[in-house]
Amino acid sequence: MSEPTGNASGNATATETPRRGTVEPVPFADALKPLEKIMNAPIDIAAAKLDAGRAFIERHDRKQPARLWIGIGALLGAIVAGVLAGYLQRDFGKRNLEYMPDMAYSKAWESQLRNDYFAEYDREDQPIPQYIRDWGTAEMPPPPGTVYRGQRSLELGKDKLMDPATTGMLNPVALRDLTGDRAAEREKVLARGKVLFRQNCQACHGVDGIGGAPVTDFGIGAPAINTGVVRDRWKDGQLFNIISNGYNTMPAHASHVEYDERWKLITYLRSLQEGK
Ligand code: HEC
Repeated sequence: MSEPTGNASGNATATETPRRGTVEPVPFADALKPLEKIMNAPIDIAAAKLDAGRAFIERHDRKQPARLWIGIGALLGAIVAGVLAGYLQRDFGKRNLEYMPDMAYSKAWESQLRNDYFAEYDREDQPIPQYIRDWGTAEMPPPPGTVYRGQRSLELGKDKLMDPATTGMLNPVALRDLTGDRAAEREKVLARGKVLFRQNCQACHGVDGIGGAPVTDFGIGAPAINTGVVRDRWKDGQLFNIISNGYNTMPAHASHVEYDERWKLITYLRSLQEGK
């Protein structure tokens, strides 16, 4: 509520030109003054309360951040204390608590003990070698065609070429045996033998063992071995010994042609000599 101004009196005497700031308050406005005071009273009280409230909020606002930080500090302190307590009480003889280990651990097989795990990998087109089955332990099988340590290979020796231990050996996949119910095996053995021959023999003994390989020009006198003479000269066991341990200047192949594969090689060589 403002003091009566010149404008209020100006309305009453509309015909006169009002002089600003010098007009006397009209009696009616004076009469309103006590009423004005009464009407203002609740407003003043409300304003006072508002001020008090504002002051309270201000005080409160200043305190709030401090309380928040005390709370956060206490929480962190509790976490640290908890972790520390847990650590100090840990049993170091036991495995840690693990959070979502996923695939960190695989099935652990005892290396020297029997298991049939590899049976899962047994496929028609790539069967697990018999020695792995016999072996039957947790070790991974060597890649096909490789010679594993300790595999039967060197029991003969170069000097045993004429020994009955050599001459008496029989080819388990001899051509004459691959008939009847073993006829299906014949193609496989010959196909594999051919691959092995190309890989291991052809460089010296020529394509299909006909001799005349380029190396013969450099002093390695590797003869033709697809001949009737060679066929009749050696028994299968002797060929096995020659391939395993070498023959005069011919190098040994025991270290890189697997035991069973050497027999397939001989079967293939025999097929080259057939009818010669
Ligand atoms: C590094 C060259 C070389 C390679 C590779 C080689 N040979 Fe020979 N091979 C020879 C030589 C040289 C002789 C002749 C040795 C001698 O008569 O003194 C020979 C001899 C032979 C003989 C006896 C021949 C005869 O006249 O009686 C046979 C059988 C034979 N090799 C088979 C093979 C087979 C099977 C392979 C593949 C596994 C092979 N060789 C790989 C060099 C080689």
